[in-house]
Amino acid sequence: MITRDDIRELFGDLLAEITDPALADKVVDAWVEGCRLGGWDSVEKLRTMPFTLLTPTHGIDFVQHTRAVTHGALALGRAMAAHQDLPYEIDFDILVAGGLVHDLGKLMEIEPDGMGGFRKSHAGRCLRHPISGAALAARFGFPDEILNVIANHSKEGDGRPQRPETVLVHQADFATFNPIVMLNKGTLITEKAAAPGDA
Ligand SMILES: [Fe+2]
Repeated sequence: MITRDDIRELFGDLLAEITDPALADKVVDAWVEGCRLGGWDSVEKLRTMPFTLLTPTHGIDFVQHTRAVTHGALALGRAMAAHQDLPYEIDFDILVAGGLVHDLGKLMEIEPDGMGGFRKSHAGRCLRHPISGAALAARFGFPDEILNVIANHSKEGDGRPQRPETVLVHQADFATFNPIVMLNKGTLITEKAAAPGDA
């Protein structure tokens, strides 16, 4: 099984950014339980999990995605707080903890298909990850503000009341997701990637 120590190894640098040790422990405990519920019984297996089923991920796994989104949201939040007179506050504990658990529900939403690929699980068809993730996090006593990050970081949050930290995680999430989708559609302009049909 995946242990607390395993999760601390995967996310230790980000967990260290959380000033409330009880909140950091909740993140670790929720990840351990999410891995258990999703059947991710080893780190090796977890590291094969793609971060989305919506588009080919070019090897970017779920752990990499979670780390990139959380670091990205943190960096953007720090830049906004440092270079503007913000008329609201960003809570960096909520931001980092929220980033680390924003896709918790994907641990139950994605499963191996038995043929070397991955598919949506029965649980995932019943509840999309923002809902299942918020439900799981609620069991661990996360504050409502972090449940807002989880429940409203994706399209479920469009037009809904959101915490500043939710907005930051949403933007970091889509900043990592959209270029991959565009790359796969041939609409991402890069030096390396040729559009489909290019000679
Ligand atoms: Fe995400």
